[in-house]
Amino acid sequence: SSCLPVFSHDEVTKHRSLEDGVWVTFKGGVYDITEFVAMHPGGNKILLAAGGALEPFWALYAVHDQNHVLEILSQYKVRHL
Ligand code: HEM
Repeated sequence: SSCLPVFSHDEVTKHRSLEDGVWVTFKGGVYDITEFVAMHPGGNKILLAAGGALEPFWALYAVHDQNHVLEILSQYKVRHL
């Protein structure tokens, strides 16, 4: 929603571990996916995207090009970039 705070790429890069939280970006949104890491069907590979953009990884793993994947992601939105 438009009520989410605006944050910078620097803030996102500080969140790249389970200890500091795992944040990723996708199309102008910031997502705190810390709680989802353990539920990810693709396992710990998800941590490769921690602190940065999902797009390059999802371009490689086309399994994510499905509405149900975007619905999962949308639950974790915390910021706009
Ligand atoms: C599979 C979600 C990030 C690698 C999946 C599936 C979901 C999902 C729901 C199952 C899709 C299906 O079978 O219908 C997510 C979400 C992500 C994320 C919400 C980010 C927030 C990543 C990243 C990578 C990755 C960054 C790789 C670097 C994979 C792989 C599979 C998979 C390899 C296939 C697992 C298998 O079927 O054996 N992901 N994913 N994912 N994901 Fe992700």
